Amino acid sequence: MALRMENKVAYITGAGSGIGKATALKCSQEGATVICADYDEAGAKATADQIAKAGGQVMVSKVDISNQDQVKASIQEALKKYGRIDVMIAAAGVGSNEKFDDVSSEDWEKMIKINLTGNFYLLQAIHPVMREQGAGSIVLFSSTAAYSGGTGMNPAYVAAKSGVNGLSRHCAALWTKEGIRVNTVMPSWVVTNFNKAAKDTDGVAFDEKENQEWYKNGTANWPMKRPSTPEEMANAAFFLASDEASYISGINLLVAGARYVFNQ
Ligand SMILES: NC(=O)c1ccc[n+]([C@@H]2O[C@H](COP(=O)([O-])OP(=O)(O)OC[C@H]3O[C@@H](n4cnc5c(N)ncnc54)[C@H](O)[C@@H]3O)[C@@H](O)[C@H]2O)c1
Repeated sequence: MALRMENKVAYITGAGSGIGKATALKCSQEGATVICADYDEAGAKATADQIAKAGGQVMVSKVDISNQDQVKASIQEALKKYGRIDVMIAAAGVGSNEKFDDVSSEDWEKMIKINLTGNFYLLQAIHPVMREQGAGSIVLFSSTAAYSGGTGMNPAYVAAKSGVNGLSRHCAALWTKEGIRVNTVMPSWVVTNFNKAAKDTDGVAFDEKENQEWYKNGTANWPMKRPSTPEEMANAAFFLASDEASYISGINLLVAGARYVFNQ
């Protein structure tokens, strides 16, 4: 069977962990040359090493997506090396569980800066590249929190992810006629380092046993009675990014195992 991303160059943020890592591996397995972009350089390098070991083409780009100059430089670095970027999958993000009444102005700014403004920087940096090519495919990551209200999360995270959904549709409406498709995946709960990273963000100690119980108890009443794997999210993002989704642009896709669909 032909590979589904052969001869394409895919720039992937958050490639050092979780969903971004699984997506980078998937794109590589399907023939893409991959740029592992992350501010965790060691994580990105570990993913890149795995790809290179399996025979894939790959480079690492260290970038903090909340820094516009770094985002521009990272895209240019990839462009200089490979001459084009066909796919951008933006999975970098960070959570926080701060409750509404406790959110300081600094917490708010930080959540918005990484999770929303960072995606704006990425979109603004990649647009001229894909417009010039007359082709490109972009997949962003928001969250079911943008759909459900995400009462367990920091309201700034929920607002940022809702903003990503809007930004994605805005760009799809403007750019699809230029040959650039833009879509967003809205994951539910995914087993990654995300919960630990959220606790780090909030300065709260992480407890793996509590984390496992949280997954188990939290999903007991869900239709699938489990959180998803990062690979299940990677598959959805890969499909939207690939040519198989050639007529799909401007959607915010809930990938949540019928959570929010059944009669609660
Ligand atoms: N895991 C979940 O339950 C879940 C649920 C809904 C949405 N999401 C979203 O999915 C995406 C991926 O999350 P994950 O679960 O793989 O988390 P993760 O913590 O495993 O991975 C996130 C990656 O993003 C990187 N990153 C964070 N901030 C960055 C920045 N400013 N610049 C560059 N890189 C940065 C981290 O270093 C890490 O490698 C995020 O956008 C997250 O909001 C996750």
